Amino acid sequence: MPTRRSLLRGIGASALAVAAPAIIGRHRALAAGGPPPLPHLPRIDATAANAFALTAVAGATEFRPGVPSPTMGFNRPHLGPVVRVRTGSRVSATVGNATGHAISAHWHGLLVPGEVDGGPHQPIAPGATWTPVLPVSQPPATLWYHTHLHGETAAGVHAGLAGVLIVEDGGDAGRGLPATADVDDLVLILQDKRPGGDGRAIYEPGEGDLMHGFLGSAVLVNGIAGAIATVPRGVVRLRLVNASNARNYDLGFDDGRPVVLVATDQGYLTAPIALDRLRLTPGERAELLVDFAGGGNPTLVSDPHAETAGTMPMGGMMHAMTPLPETFTAPFPVLAFAVDPSLPAAIRRMPAALDGDVLDAAAPSITRRFVLNDMGMPTGGGAMGGMGHMGGGGGRPAFSINGQSYDMGRMDAEIAAGTTERWLVSGQMMGHPFHIHGVRFLVESENGGAPRPENRGWKDTVFVEGEASLLVRFDQPAGRQAPFMFHCHILEHEDAGMMGQFTVA
Ligand code: C2O
Ligand code: CU
Ligand code: CU
Repeated sequence: MPTRRSLLRGIGASALAVAAPAIIGRHRALAAGGPPPLPHLPRIDATAANAFALTAVAGATEFRPGVPSPTMGFNRPHLGPVVRVRTGSRVSATVGNATGHAISAHWHGLLVPGEVDGGPHQPIAPGATWTPVLPVSQPPATLWYHTHLHGETAAGVHAGLAGVLIVEDGGDAGRGLPATADVDDLVLILQDKRPGGDGRAIYEPGEGDLMHGFLGSAVLVNGIAGAIATVPRGVVRLRLVNASNARNYDLGFDDGRPVVLVATDQGYLTAPIALDRLRLTPGERAELLVDFAGGGNPTLVSDPHAETAGTMPMGGMMHAMTPLPETFTAPFPVLAFAVDPSLPAAIRRMPAALDGDVLDAAAPSITRRFVLNDMGMPTGGGAMGGMGHMGGGGGRPAFSINGQSYDMGRMDAEIAAGTTERWLVSGQMMGHPFHIHGVRFLVESENGGAPRPENRGWKDTVFVEGEASLLVRFDQPAGRQAPFMFHCHILEHEDAGMMGQFTVA
């Protein structure tokens, strides 16, 4: 397998060979003097054929006109399509790899057996094709997919090996939810990039970046910064996917209109929740309804990185010790909106209720504790290694869980299928978005109290700031050859070892 460095070199080399800018419309918009229109990701409707094909490719993208940056994507030079599948069907996926480097295709949030989960044990070699059959059987939800090779996830996802997977049941019209793709039902992938002196967005993390995760000062939606979305004069659904390596968003509108949360990671709530701000951390998804019936041209903004203002004093301290221009100190724009009354507004009222699965988990059979070690302790070590410095090999900070850095050859837990467990997950100095493969869970409590509104639905990723108690239901099988992962979704932490694996049988 290539190392992270060889992967990066390879991306650079292929970028020179392929000079295909992914974003053509942008130049026209810039020439006309306005902000660029929000690009919609291509869509693959697999709800009838129950089959779809993705090919990972390396390419280049002009985040700044005339300045191509090396990128990767599925079926396109940057990011991948929105794939729609129907629950209750067996879906044949075909994933080719033309990048010249090993990748994988992990279906984040899809509740399928470990052998088709696409984690680190299922690499797709250069030139090879992986053809898993996905038994889709879960409530409707906005999921995503991304490469997931150990030690190389951060570089690969940052380059663009990420797309969106929507599980549908055909019932959204009956729910009174906006469902007209790219008109009143928008998919928004949030990522950030760091433009270098030459304007190119390159992934070259320094030591500080490996400590608290790689941030970029350019916030992109569907691959471009500063875009404007045109929407009808009615209720609009935003399916938000935080595919950033490390950035937390605290999203809301600059004119104060509420965002109405209707779905979390694993699908619909039982009732909408109106919020001023929605926190979305790496790996999480949320579906929001926004009312544009009264018009207006608001901008979706984010409050500054939640870490700096978080409840963990050490988190803010770490940032203060290594100040970065990418750590915003004031609200920053994410996406502007403009109402176009000529677009069809199918939905004019917020739904009063939703039909999400009841938030009820069986009594846990056992309690397990997971401490996310972010204090730089090397595997098995006891001493605090100086604020995350130099714990692991190769001059990279060590991150681990319960003192053990991820090892593909070590099984961290063997879990009985069909059981519910309580997982008590805690961090040390900073908050961590904790994700578990192959399951959905409820957040029982956060720091002993009721969970934040964002965490009151079925989840597969939750930001742990202090301690969170999770009720996790294990229904999908995973054997030793293809176990499920649990990890921090700050991808630099994951790559540095803040990950473990388990079987379900
Ligand atoms: Cu989004 Cu283990 O992955
Ligand atoms: Cu996952
Ligand atoms: Cu982390």
